[in-house]
Amino acid sequence: MKTRITELFGIRHPIIQGGMHHVGYAELAAAVSNAGGLGIITALTQRTPELLAQEIRRCREMTDRPFGVNLTLLPSVNPPDYPGYVEAIVKSGVKVVETAGHNPQKWLPGFKAHGIKVIHKCTSVRHAVKAEAVGCDAVSVDGFECAGHPGEDDVPNFILLPRAADELTVPFVASGGMADGRSLVAALALGAEGINMGTRFVATREAPVHDNVKQAIVAATELDTRLVMRPLRNSERVLNNAAVERLLNTEKELGSAVRFEDIAAEVAGVYPKIMKEGALDAGAWSCGLVAGLIHDVPSVKELIDRIMAEAHGLIADRLAGFGASA
Ligand SMILES: Cc1cc2nc3c(=O)[nH]c(=O)nc-3n(C[C@H](O)[C@H](O)[C@H](O)COP(=O)(O)O)c2cc1C
Repeated sequence: MKTRITELFGIRHPIIQGGMHHVGYAELAAAVSNAGGLGIITALTQRTPELLAQEIRRCREMTDRPFGVNLTLLPSVNPPDYPGYVEAIVKSGVKVVETAGHNPQKWLPGFKAHGIKVIHKCTSVRHAVKAEAVGCDAVSVDGFECAGHPGEDDVPNFILLPRAADELTVPFVASGGMADGRSLVAALALGAEGINMGTRFVATREAPVHDNVKQAIVAATELDTRLVMRPLRNSERVLNNAAVERLLNTEKELGSAVRFEDIAAEVAGVYPKIMKEGALDAGAWSCGLVAGLIHDVPSVKELIDRIMAEAHGLIADRLAGFGASA
């Protein structure tokens, strides 16, 4: 399938794997790229820029297709070594960066000078328009359904995507709630040129996480996620569990007086325990409403081939049928 996104990134299918903390390692990124999508390594999961450079080298040994690096720009008092990570990306020869979180403007000249394409992931039309204005090549429009940080506007993709289509000139992909061929065709109909998936890719054979995590996503329904950190205006959509219940109780008890320190035990530094050891209740971990559409743990190639076959079938049969009966 040819879209402005496949052309921009030199990929076969308009499917991107979003950056994911402690999931987006070389194994997953390479599997997605080898299957014709765009795999993405998560920079901040690597403790230092040197380790990121090493992870990029490892990925290159596993695929000769394009892959990217996610750089999550956090609002932080003690920010990570962003200049170091940017330098590691530029020197590695990677040609795609997915930025997320804060405005990436400061880092764009460095990327552009080295021919790196930047896709910025954001959760509102105003931020998408800003990303285009500062020179991003594409946008990932992340609806309220998404795993992780959906922002504070609560606009789902059925509204957000056509609004983005009305305002943007650069191509964009639909992110949040995407799982199958139906998602892809709907996203294309709403004006996107492809899809970005997180949760769906966690439940694949190649995702280098504990099987408990994959099985929890398969077992979950669309009713099983919760929004935490709303009072801190840093909302995160996570799978419900004992730690999340504790966290939500604390938020309820303290109301608007809640501080990050009050909930830190449930959110800070918990990912390795969950993703590596499979200790699911060790803390809050990102998961999208799309869990309700995930019923198996296929290989990445099986998943992507299935999405593309279903999408082509929907366009050629179901939609063409409606067109013919008009
Ligand atoms: C376990 C997990 C960790 C994530 N970590 C990050 C991250 O570090 N940076 C980021 O930009 N997005 C992160 N995301 C969000 C995804 O890249 C993607 O935008 C989101 O999952 C899309 O929604 P979906 O899960 O409905 O497909 C994470 C998602 C999951 C499921």
